[in-house]
Amino acid sequence: MGAKATVLVADADVAKDIQIKDFHNFTDRANLKLKGGPFGDSRFDESFLILRGKRWKKVRSVSTPTFSASKLKTMTPIIDDAFKNFIHIIDKRSKTGHEFDIYGNENEVQINAQNKDTNDLKDSKQHKNEISLTDSEVLANSTTLYLAGYETTSTALGYMSHIFVKYPDIQERVRQEVQKLQESDGILDYNTVQKLDFMDCVLKETFRFYSPIVTFVARECHEDYKLNDTIVIPKGSSVVVDVHYLHYSPDYCCEPEVFDPMRFSADRKHEIYPNSWQPFGSGPRNCIGMRFALLVVKLSLVKLLLNYRLISGAKTETANFSLTTTIFTQSPSNGIFLKVAQL
Ligand code: HEM
Repeated sequence: MGAKATVLVADADVAKDIQIKDFHNFTDRANLKLKGGPFGDSRFDESFLILRGKRWKKVRSVSTPTFSASKLKTMTPIIDDAFKNFIHIIDKRSKTGHEFDIYGNENEVQINAQNKDTNDLKDSKQHKNEISLTDSEVLANSTTLYLAGYETTSTALGYMSHIFVKYPDIQERVRQEVQKLQESDGILDYNTVQKLDFMDCVLKETFRFYSPIVTFVARECHEDYKLNDTIVIPKGSSVVVDVHYLHYSPDYCCEPEVFDPMRFSADRKHEIYPNSWQPFGSGPRNCIGMRFALLVVKLSLVKLLLNYRLISGAKTETANFSLTTTIFTQSPSNGIFLKVAQL
């Protein structure tokens, strides 16, 4: 009962100890069951996000294969299918030439693509002689996958659209990389999009600049934890990793205010301080959907850039892009207005 101490960690090495080296003392996420909050509902009691200790470990390990490379490989047609509706909307907009809010329409892509994840989770019940999920665990975690993956992925797509409009040269370079890949490999799927090195750099830099989640990377301290000779994190306190600080600190990233995708290139990625880039958290309790989210974003951008050019309009916020931060997420305050031109 009563107030709990919260420790804000703004040091990548301390965060590494907490999230990885001494994970056994920080296995659980700090209490998310705030009354009236998004996880206050009892349906979430058995969700990955809330579960603790051994129960979390069981649900996490049964669910992890849902996001394996072999499962993701089967998802390209489903993601493509989910994207058709979105492309239909974009196509109509390109014909009118009017400015519109692309962020409001990107949500369409996610819903259908995620049906596959939740079906795979249900299938995990059918393997006899293996640890499987109970009905209530399947229900809670299917809902969690929608909730955790839906807004985050569409927000990431929105941020990428913003970057492409703000930096048309970057948009053009990514498009050329995609066109070249299509010419050489034909099919653009899970395997081939891994070759889009420049797109990957732009995506990582966009996640550093604008993380869809900034305050959610939090753990509960199980036993008193000695940080150094003077500081002890008390048992029961909440430890929050300050992702925004890590992403913008000159201690971890050279010229952090400059949008420079090449800092993630093969030649320079050693400049990114270990454990300082963490839009998906870090350690055994990081985002389970990271690879799926990256696949959805990459396949969506491939389709978009091969067919359309994103251009700024009167309402485009290139200079003062305003963001709204809630208890978990950070998203564009006024949508992302732009125009699309068919290629
Ligand atoms: C761009 C998209 C996404 C971003 C930026 C994102 C970010 C995050 C972050 C920061 C965490 C907390 C990690 C930590 O505490 O260390 C998290 C956890 C989680 N995410 Fe994601 N996420 C995204 C997409 C997804 C998708 C698509 C799914 C599922 C389909 C998903 C499912 C989850 C789940 C279940 C957890 C809790 C994991 C656990 O406690 O074991 N996320 N995500």
